[in-house]
Amino acid sequence: MNRIAVLPLEISQKIAAGEVIERPVSVVKELVENSLDAGASEIRVDLLAGGKKLIRVQDDGQGMSRADAELSFVRHSTSKIAGEDDLLGIATLGFRGEALPSISAVSRLTLRTSEGGDAAAVELEREGDAVRAVREIALPRGTAIEVRDLFFNLPARLKFLRSDSSELTLIAKYVTNVALAYPGLRLWLAHGPRSVLDCPPVAGLRERIFQLYGKEILDRQMEIDYGETAGRLFGFASRPPHGRADRSHQFFFVNNRPVRDKILASALNQAYRGLLEKEMSPEAFLFLTVPYGEVDVNVHPAKSEVRFRDSSSVFRLVLRSVERARRGIGGLKEIAAGAGAPEGRGAPDGAGAPPPAFAPVEFSPASQIDLGVPFKIAERPASFGRPAGAPDFGPTETAGEGPGLRVLGQFADAYIVVESGDGLLVVDQHNAHERILFDKYAEIRARKTWPVALSLVPLLFDLSPSQVVRLEAEQTGLEESGFRVEPMGGRSYALREYPDIFKPQEALSVVTSLLEEDAEGPGERKMDRLLATMACKSAIKAGQSLPREKMEFLVRELFRTLNPSLCPHGRPIVVKIPRGQIEKGLGRRA
Ligand SMILES: Nc1ncnc2c1ncn2[C@@H]1O[C@H](COP(=O)(O)OP(=O)(O)OP(=O)(O)O)[C@@H](O)[C@H]1O
Ligand SMILES: [Mg+2]
Repeated sequence: MNRIAVLPLEISQKIAAGEVIERPVSVVKELVENSLDAGASEIRVDLLAGGKKLIRVQDDGQGMSRADAELSFVRHSTSKIAGEDDLLGIATLGFRGEALPSISAVSRLTLRTSEGGDAAAVELEREGDAVRAVREIALPRGTAIEVRDLFFNLPARLKFLRSDSSELTLIAKYVTNVALAYPGLRLWLAHGPRSVLDCPPVAGLRERIFQLYGKEILDRQMEIDYGETAGRLFGFASRPPHGRADRSHQFFFVNNRPVRDKILASALNQAYRGLLEKEMSPEAFLFLTVPYGEVDVNVHPAKSEVRFRDSSSVFRLVLRSVERARRGIGGLKEIAAGAGAPEGRGAPDGAGAPPPAFAPVEFSPASQIDLGVPFKIAERPASFGRPAGAPDFGPTETAGEGPGLRVLGQFADAYIVVESGDGLLVVDQHNAHERILFDKYAEIRARKTWPVALSLVPLLFDLSPSQVVRLEAEQTGLEESGFRVEPMGGRSYALREYPDIFKPQEALSVVTSLLEEDAEGPGERKMDRLLATMACKSAIKAGQSLPREKMEFLVRELFRTLNPSLCPHGRPIVVKIPRGQIEKGLGRRA
């Protein structure tokens, strides 16, 4: 018996349209991208009812001829790529020839377009897949597209639209991204009579950030501008210890295309680990430029995600860029310049130049000064006590400072400098504390006796659909760690119980940050990650000046942990500068 039939065109087109056009913001995005690809210098977006009733996008770009205008609604018709080879290096925002046919399949659409000069302008009216009218009109160069009654013929989708203001919020976010990526663009967004965003063209990103967010945010940014063979990163990011309580101000662009990207986001957050005040996340406006062939933009129906050919190089590039910008603060910029790194945003940076903090300026012979070597667990100082269950590294009775280990002081409010018998140890205070807390939590968890706080006022929070899925998977692990989350209808939840080491807001951010991160690995590993997150959130940060007793406490406790050489995230905690090396540098030894 035959069961398979090809779907009628009308249905298959609606299905295809649904992939590209999910909600009003998808329409705005596709139309604005077309305007940008058409070389517009002005774009105006008008909306009614959060875009559900009307979306109008007008531009002063190159426009279309009548024949092109008609062809533009045929699926897979595009002026942007011609063959398969072009897919390897897409330089335009559009390339599939799917946006206009998709939008018109699910709305009532009017297109007006003109190439300027003597060419005739044309107006096309469409409803669903039907052409309603084509007529010649008078119009200056540019294109205006009106999309009315989105999803009028797709009730299933219509049901899922949110309130006008939620849809508007999404659109405003998107238009803000465009404003950031194109400072030279004149950009308007209006909701009915209300102007939501009105940005005259400005000289550069700095001015645009100022225009959109004001001086306060700009003042706490540092400029990022660094290039390597993998690519170049330009923009602004929080100057530690400043940050923001949420991640709403992290913008990433790849070849000027706004993207959501886990690699960039996690590299950014890692770059700031231990540098920000408690509970803070970095703000960032980061533009990554990579060769077009190094990034695949054809991985997501809305083109909002990309895939890098060499993602670990990109990850490292972000880490280094932030690190270098950070070191550039406080007079070190001169050293950087002296080491051959050119100034200025446009010029490629001296990729091979040594990082400024280690630049061999005053020491001689400088090349002999090493950066110190990661401290291995096997080098546990003999004078420290053996942690329970750990291999024996030496005498167990002394748990305090011994003759071989003495805290000398704090360096840069971030590192504890310790004298050990045969050299200096530099201990990262944040990583050390993180390790100590992690071990403590792990021990409490093993005993399953979390001291739990009850929240009397429900701590309410909303999750994204993907986080809801994560929550279901993590629920048991969360409960074992003392977090009890209760559904409140829709995607709203209440946090009812949490470990009492946290303040309510901290507990909330631990839960949400766990649900944000990549879900992978078996439950045990996830649990370890949760504990690591908790430890990280509550650990002492870099930039905090510590009294001597606290430093001594940290050093002592650190060497009691199971693994004093690596923090729970796998970063080194201690570097050692052997005495021999110091003596060599001072010319006391060959
Ligand atoms: N505002 C505009 N100004 C000038 N030409 C436009 C404009 N909008 C669309 N076009 C033309 O119509 C074609 C089809 O647009 P459409 O958005 O459907 O596809 P695309 O941009 O090529 O690819 P994608 O589906 O990835 O967006 C474009 O290739 C372009 O030539
Ligand atoms: Mg397009």
